[in-house]
Amino acid sequence: MLSAEKNERLTRVGPGTPMGELLRRYWWPIATHDMATRVPVKRRLLGEDLVLYRDGSGTVGLLAEQCPHRRAALWLGCTEDVGLRCGYHGWRFDADGRCLEQPGEPADSTFKDRVRATAYPVRELGGLVFAYLGPQTPEQPVPELPRYDLFVWDDAWRDIGHAELPCNFVQIMENSVDPYHVEWLHGRYGSFLRGESLPVVTKKHVKVAFEVFEHGILKRRVLEGHTEEDDDWKVGHPLVFPHMLRVGAAGLATFQIRVPIDDENTWHVWYQTYRPDGGAPPQPEVPVYEVPLKDERGEWLRDYVDGQDIVAWITQGRISDRSREHLGRSDLGVILLRKLYAQQMERVARGEDPLCTYRTPHDVIDLPMERDKFGSAVEFRQLWTRESSIRYSPIRSEVLRLFGDPVPSWS
Ligand code: FES
Ligand SMILES: [Fe+2]
Repeated sequence: MLSAEKNERLTRVGPGTPMGELLRRYWWPIATHDMATRVPVKRRLLGEDLVLYRDGSGTVGLLAEQCPHRRAALWLGCTEDVGLRCGYHGWRFDADGRCLEQPGEPADSTFKDRVRATAYPVRELGGLVFAYLGPQTPEQPVPELPRYDLFVWDDAWRDIGHAELPCNFVQIMENSVDPYHVEWLHGRYGSFLRGESLPVVTKKHVKVAFEVFEHGILKRRVLEGHTEEDDDWKVGHPLVFPHMLRVGAAGLATFQIRVPIDDENTWHVWYQTYRPDGGAPPQPEVPVYEVPLKDERGEWLRDYVDGQDIVAWITQGRISDRSREHLGRSDLGVILLRKLYAQQMERVARGEDPLCTYRTPHDVIDLPMERDKFGSAVEFRQLWTRESSIRYSPIRSEVLRLFGDPVPSWS
């Protein structure tokens, strides 16, 4: 249980809030590669309204939504060879926020040199566009964009699913340090829904453990019939602080990235990599697809693993009321994650860099992940391509063929 005040502190992500200040120290996916085009689009991140565009020179820009002239929205604009021109009176801004042109002002005016749009740094990596909304001062410069392994492997295929979920991002992150839900939500409840006796995940958790480490929280488990010699315990997999879960096995490795749109909405990105032994052939472009939340009757989709997770997160409320919960021993991971957020908020308040801040250029950051998940890597991979959001991937059949897995008739 948390007091209402502590719950506010944990969940508010806007500018000036303790969590908002912590989260502004990280690079966030703001879009998939296909969203950054010559047509500007509205995006929202950490409670801030923004406009993303790609100009004629290929530069991607991210500006605050309102034009500094008379506040029209800059998505009502046209991209030029350099920069974005406001649709209302034609002021033109570059990706650094400099005002390059004010067509209505006298030719000899220097007014444009004294006006700036709010601009944020953006970088492209692995099919995503990342943005940084934090401080950019000599004392607190922009950190390096972490080059996590899945984003940079050059011998893997990728696909990216995404959806906007109507709830706060913390309750989604808490799910990633809550292994017991697997056997119940995806096991018992999953089979109850299907009217089948065989659940998706049958094995019970005998033991779970969590430890804070350099990348966030490392999770370990021993399932019924397994031992501490198995990968699930010996290697485990990480919650990557502050916003990702890493899951996978046998050449399938995925990130679930939880991007706070604002206090009550989260952009969920399912980022998959497919890397069979010996590597995958080159992939021309990373496919992007939307993960649906409801079926044709308007009912929440619950007949697969991610759908079950999504409905659990959303039904906790827009912001889960933690003053009315009852935590038990099985919630140790959740308690640890809340403590970690609180500690890192304090670090930022003291002017220190929080966990997972990178200050030196690097090629790749390798993350640990068990190869032999739930006792059988290949079984897990086949389960995941069937039961996760990958079922909506436009390349699912190609992925199965890439691994030499059977391609069922639904494909
Ligand atoms: S409001 Fe943008 S140029 Fe006038
Ligand atoms: Fe789950």
